[in-house]
Amino acid sequence: MPMRERTLLLIKPDALQRGLVGEILARFEKKGFKIVGLKMLKMDKALAKEHYAHLVSKPFYPDLEKFVTEHPLVAAVVEGKEAVEVVRLIVGPTNASRAPAGTIRGDFSNSTSRNVIHASDSKETAAKEIHRFFKPHELFDYSVNVESYLYASDE
Ligand code: PPS
Repeated sequence: MPMRERTLLLIKPDALQRGLVGEILARFEKKGFKIVGLKMLKMDKALAKEHYAHLVSKPFYPDLEKFVTEHPLVAAVVEGKEAVEVVRLIVGPTNASRAPAGTIRGDFSNSTSRNVIHASDSKETAAKEIHRFFKPHELFDYSVNVESYLYASDE
């Protein structure tokens, strides 16, 4: 049976400023992923350097750091079947200009640096990134019982 997985999403400041948070989260919910953690936060420089450690030496890093630290972003953990791989497919490639229509980046961005969302790129990275942004008590394990809503007693 395919493994239940969790992965980290960062809905980046450009998406917040453009009012796209609800639409982006809805795509994962509609696909069948469950939101098990959700918060708004402002990254500080230390957190940015830790999260993007593999990019600190790149020429674009100063712009990237400024972009992710200047305004708030939304962090989410979603859970579901093969979450790491499937979420990356829904997100689309880093260079949003070349991201296929139907992907989040393909539909909402035309840029590599302002590409609206980050998603963990492997199961190992997901575990580290979830731990980086969420404490254990900020993640929730709940089951969804649709019948209980359909037949709720309103008395
Ligand atoms: S790389 O170059 O293969 O290591 O890139 P990757 O790990 O896919 O992620 C690059 C992240 O840096 C952000 N960024 C840029 N990438 C490339 N070029 C420029 N100019 C640039 N500016 C910012 C890019 O959005 C990726 O962010 P995340 O949050 O990882 O998607």
